[in-house]
Amino acid sequence: MDKLASLIFICSFCCVSALINITELKGPDSIEYGSTEEIILDCNFEAEKERDLEVKWFYNGDTEVVYQWVPDSHKPGYAMGRLKGRIDLDYSATNDSNTRYRALKIFNVTTDLTGNYTCKVSSFDSEDSETKQLIIYTPARSGLDLVLLEEDQTVICTVYGVFPKPELKLYLTGENDTKLDVDEITVNNTQAYQEDPDNGSYNVTIVHYFPNLTSFSDNIDIVCELTIPGTDYFLSKSVTYHTESSAVIHSPGVIVSTIFATAFLLLCK
Ligand SMILES: *[C@@H]1O[C@H](CO)[C@@H](O)[C@H](O)[C@H]1NC(C)=O
Ligand SMILES: *[C@@H]1O[C@H](CO)[C@@H](O)[C@H](O)[C@H]1NC(C)=O
Ligand SMILES: *[C@@H]1O[C@H](CO)[C@@H](O)[C@H](O)[C@H]1NC(C)=O
Ligand SMILES: *[C@@H]1O[C@H](CO)[C@@H](O)[C@H](O)[C@H]1NC(C)=O
Ligand SMILES: *[C@@H]1O[C@H](CO)[C@@H](O)[C@H](O)[C@H]1NC(C)=O
Ligand SMILES: *[C@@H]1O[C@H](CO)[C@@H](O)[C@H](O)[C@H]1NC(C)=O
Ligand SMILES: *[C@@H]1O[C@H](CO)[C@@H](O)[C@H](O)[C@H]1NC(C)=O
Ligand SMILES: *[C@@H]1O[C@H](CO)[C@@H](O)[C@H](O)[C@H]1NC(C)=O
Ligand SMILES: *[C@@H]1O[C@H](CO)[C@@H](O)[C@H](O)[C@H]1NC(C)=O
Repeated sequence: MDKLASLIFICSFCCVSALINITELKGPDSIEYGSTEEIILDCNFEAEKERDLEVKWFYNGDTEVVYQWVPDSHKPGYAMGRLKGRIDLDYSATNDSNTRYRALKIFNVTTDLTGNYTCKVSSFDSEDSETKQLIIYTPARSGLDLVLLEEDQTVICTVYGVFPKPELKLYLTGENDTKLDVDEITVNNTQAYQEDPDNGSYNVTIVHYFPNLTSFSDNIDIVCELTIPGTDYFLSKSVTYHTESSAVIHSPGVIVSTIFATAFLLLCK
C-alpha cells in the first residue's frame, strides 16, 4: 500500500512539473488591415529530451487545427482549415531540429484571420498550451460623422465600414473640461449597429436627444469617440455648442442660408 501511495505521489508530481514549457507566444496584438503583407506568430517553447514531440496551432478554441508539425518527421509542417494556402511552410523560426517549424508565418493578412490562436506543444508525457488574440481591423476610412441639429436638439454620430465591432461613445465637456454625464442630460438615446453580411464590417449610428440643450449656461463640447476593443485604434470628433450665440454652427439651415447669401453676393457683383 505504501508503495502504491508513493507511486501515485510521484506520478502526480510528474504531471505537475512541466517538461514542456511554452515560454512565450510572440506576435502582434493588432494590425491594421493593409498595413502588412505577413504576420509571424511564434511559439517559443522548451522541451528537454521529449519523445513524440508535436506542435499544433488552433484557431478560436481547441477544435479547429490550423497547423501541425511533428519534429521527428524531419519535414516541415502543414496548414489546414482557414490557414490552408496562407502559411509559408518553409519559414524557420530557429535552426534547432526540435523547434525549427514551430512558428506561423501567415501571408494574405485579411480581417477574417482575427481570432484567438492557441499553440499546443505535446509529447509522450507532457504538454503545454498558450493562447493569444490577434485582431486585424479596418479603420473608418471616412472618419466619424458628427452632426448637431440644433433645431431638433439632436446629436448624431455615425461611422461606416469598421471591423471588428467598434464602440461609440458620446460625452460632453463643460467649461474647464468638466465632464457632464450624458445619461443625465439626454433622453431617448439610440444606438444602431448594421453588420455587412459579406465581410462583417459595421456601420454604427448613435443618436442623442437633448431636451434642454438651450438651458446650459456654459459653452459645451459634444464629443464622439470610437474605439475598437483590443486595439489602440481611437477616433474622436467634437463640436462646440455655443449657448450665448447659438446661431454659429452646424445647423444645416444656417449653412444653406450662408451659401445662398454668398452666391447672391457673387451674382450681384
Ligand atoms: C516556463 O517559462 C517561463 C518563462 O521563461 C518561466 O517563467 C516559468 O517559470 C517556466 N515554467 C516552468 C514550469 O518551468
Ligand atoms: C478570444 O479571447 C478573448 C480574451 O480571452 C475573449 O474575450 C474572446 O471572446 C475570445 N474570442 C473568441 C472568438 O473565442
Ligand atoms: C540558420 O542558419 C543559417 C546558416 O547558418 C543562418 O543564415 C540563419 O540566420 C539561421 N536561422 C536562424 C533562425 O537562426
Ligand atoms: C494572396 O495574395 C496574392 C497576391 O497578393 C494572390 O495572388 C493570392 O490569390 C492570395 N491568396 C489567397 C489564398 O487569398
Ligand atoms: C474655470 O477656470 C477659470 C480660470 O481659468 C476660473 O475663473 C473659473 O472659476 C473656473 N470655473 C469652474 C467652474 O471651475
Ligand atoms: C422618448 O420616446 C418616447 C417613446 O418613443 C416618447 O413618448 C417621448 O415623448 C420621447 N421623449 C422625448 C423627450 O422626446
Ligand atoms: C454601410 O454604409 C454604407 C455607406 O452608406 C452603405 O453603402 C452600406 O450598405 C452600409 N452597410 C450596411 C450593412 O448597412
Ligand atoms: C466590407 O464591405 C464594405 C462595403 O462593401 C466596404 O466598404 C469595406 O471596406 C469592406 N471591408 C473589408 C474589411 O473588406
Ligand atoms: C436637463 O433636463 C434633465 C431632466 O429632463 C434635468 O435633470 C437636468 O437638470 C436638466 N439640465 C439642465 C442643465 O437644465
